[in-house]
Amino acid sequence: MLLDAAGRAPSAGNSQPWAFIVGKRGDGVHAKLVQHLSRSSAAWAPGASLIVVNLSQRFVEDTEMDYSEFAHYDLGQAVAHLTFQAHAMGMSVHQFRAFDRDAVAREFSVPDHWEVTTMAAIGVPTTEARSMTGAGTSRERRSRTQITWARGS
Ligand SMILES: Cc1cc2nc3c(=O)[nH]c(=O)nc-3n(C[C@H](O)[C@H](O)[C@H](O)COP(=O)(O)O)c2cc1C
Repeated sequence: MLLDAAGRAPSAGNSQPWAFIVGKRGDGVHAKLVQHLSRSSAAWAPGASLIVVNLSQRFVEDTEMDYSEFAHYDLGQAVAHLTFQAHAMGMSVHQFRAFDRDAVAREFSVPDHWEVTTMAAIGVPTTEARSMTGAGTSRERRSRTQITWARGS
């Protein structure tokens, strides 16, 4: 269901430059992923029901040609779609970069034209996870005025 939502995201030229590695707590994929978390994410991510690795296709296979100018943008949209689906199912999604990308790529034989971009921990957050503090964990948002570059009246 979550991956179906991700896969329904729009993408430039319908290029769908995304793929996912899904580890469910207790299975072998999850166990492998947990080994590659950074110290910061290892403190909370393993407790989530799912750890999903988000991959973007950066190059056309066996070339140095960009696969899509919008590969990162489109992967972000796919993960956003997955996030809203998870919320509708009563779960939260915490995306993160704090893990060893190269090690995950080696572990799952991700070819060079794909990039291991981010991970997402998905589940019902514990109180501990909700009250996380530390660099990059602020939940404050810029105001509507601050994010409006220009507008008419
Ligand atoms: C590309 C990306 C990378 C992120 N990396 C991390 C990370 O390494 N560690 C972390 O705790 N959160 C990470 N986050 C989560 C943000 O820090 C989080 O969205 C922000 O703290 C606001 O929290 P909220 O979205 O739960 O309100 C990342 C988010 C994105 C989209």
